Amino acid sequence: MKFFIDTANLDEIKEANDLGVLDGVTTNPSLMAKEGITGTDNILNHYVKICSIVDGPISAEVIATDFDGIVQEGEHLASLHKNIVVKVPMIADGIKAIKYFSSKGIKTNCTLIFSAGQALMAAKAGATYISPFLGRLDDISTEGVQLIAQIRGIYDNYAFDTEILAASVRHPMHIINCAEIGADVATVPLKAIKALLNHPLTTSGLETFLADYAKGNA
Ligand code: G3P
Repeated sequence: MKFFIDTANLDEIKEANDLGVLDGVTTNPSLMAKEGITGTDNILNHYVKICSIVDGPISAEVIATDFDGIVQEGEHLASLHKNIVVKVPMIADGIKAIKYFSSKGIKTNCTLIFSAGQALMAAKAGATYISPFLGRLDDISTEGVQLIAQIRGIYDNYAFDTEILAASVRHPMHIINCAEIGADVATVPLKAIKALLNHPLTTSGLETFLADYAKGNA
């Protein structure tokens, strides 16, 4: 399973990249705003900065919601760097635009997926990735991971190439559940990536090993 980091914070992106296990980055307009990145030029520059840190797919989201606008904006985003993946919302004009981008060899990430039907439509349009939002389904008392399993089954039935990019991942168990189901990618906040490293028996075991070494080499 590939790990993407879900943030626009450059320090967090660098820290995750330094771990050596990072495959890509996803952002969205809310994550950009959280970092105080506003205005088209600043946002575009920020994508370029992210691309200079991580050598992997970097999702950059369009703001337009009409076909012509999505195509224009997406082509501009794709021209910024070879690793840019154009993130397009799951709406009718978004699906048309994904089909267009697919025919032009521009990679896409269809975002705001909350149902298997939406995932099927995005795959039919040729999306490179789809982003089902697990945490936001959990927020409304619906099992987000069940949606991932349902989509995995559908994509496997027809050998769709579209990759399932589990998003709105909030904690380590989401990551483990996605790995068990066979999600292709999980995009995760830094805190959840780091939480995977920890176990109290690892901590206490290492303390004991170091203490015993110190005793024997005092
Ligand atoms: O990848 C999508 C993600 O940024 C949304 O996460 O926690 O706002 O639902 P959240």
